[in-house]
Amino acid sequence: MRDFLTRLPKAELHLHIEGSLEPELMFALAERNGVALPYASVEEVRAAYDFSDLQSFLDLYYQGMSVLHTAEDFHDLAMDYFRRAHAEGVVHVEMHFDPQAHLARGVELPVVMEGLSLARREAARELGLSTALIMAFLRDRDAEEALKVLEEAAPYWEMLDAVGLDSAEQGNPPEKFVEVFERARRLGIPRVAHAGEEGPPAYIRGALDLLGVCRIDHGVRCLGDPALVARLRDEQTVLTVCPLSNVRLRVVDRLEDHPLPRLLAEGLNVTLNSDDPAYFGGGMLENFLACQRAFDWDEATFRRLAGNAIEAAFVDEARRDELR
Ligand code: HPA
Ligand code: ZN
Repeated sequence: MRDFLTRLPKAELHLHIEGSLEPELMFALAERNGVALPYASVEEVRAAYDFSDLQSFLDLYYQGMSVLHTAEDFHDLAMDYFRRAHAEGVVHVEMHFDPQAHLARGVELPVVMEGLSLARREAARELGLSTALIMAFLRDRDAEEALKVLEEAAPYWEMLDAVGLDSAEQGNPPEKFVEVFERARRLGIPRVAHAGEEGPPAYIRGALDLLGVCRIDHGVRCLGDPALVARLRDEQTVLTVCPLSNVRLRVVDRLEDHPLPRLLAEGLNVTLNSDDPAYFGGGMLENFLACQRAFDWDEATFRRLAGNAIEAAFVDEARRDELR
């Protein structure tokens, strides 16, 4: 099964590139940039990754990315991940990035874009890996700032496959970002949003109705609302589910308790993703393997899950044919 899952062509639709920063690279970049880290060793970093909820993770996630300063850093970050993903049989990666988290510490958007763009071209050329770019807004910061970032990104609008919405969900409902997402819609930029990770089913409805998203990142809490489940099934809305993330952020106690089998039984359009692989115990292959251990799914189930992601990917039809 490990061989089968490695060889299975996998498209990843839900990855935060800053969450792919492994402790080894964190240390290397800290040294390169003269940044002090509150850890003495790589082991100490990994030991600190014992999260009680989304916020306790976000605190370390924002701290970790403080080592990223130059375009070269962003390039190295992305290439480090693309190489690992490629070795796991990943053929397409859609990466969220968090411009506001970098702007807040004085790293300007062109720096981030230059580094990520360089890595994307290199990945295509050297690994045959296609990539997409999702500019995410931080929902725990105000909407005016998000709107400002969207306008500042004007030179890059053409390069954005979508805008997204991430960070602390509870208390930051989709309503807050109606104007920003409406602006993205008018610009012709597709929209996605995290919803129903820790937040209630109403946030999933809000993301669909108020933000016009074409997929829901996470969405696992939809099961609390049967009418919403029926709608997600009828519309075949893609859910980018992140199994190991949900365990590590205590959305569920154990993977065996995860609602994935129920989501599939309900006929929902589910995909498997890694979210923040450096923080949650593994990339795409580890997520697939963990599901195999927890649910004992057959090859056809994994083919279906991988196929769902390829059908939903932000690629042209020629590339989709290659991925199929
Ligand atoms: N949820 C919300 N925001 C995030 C996550 C997540 O899992 N990872 C990085 N930002
Ligand atoms: Zn996420």
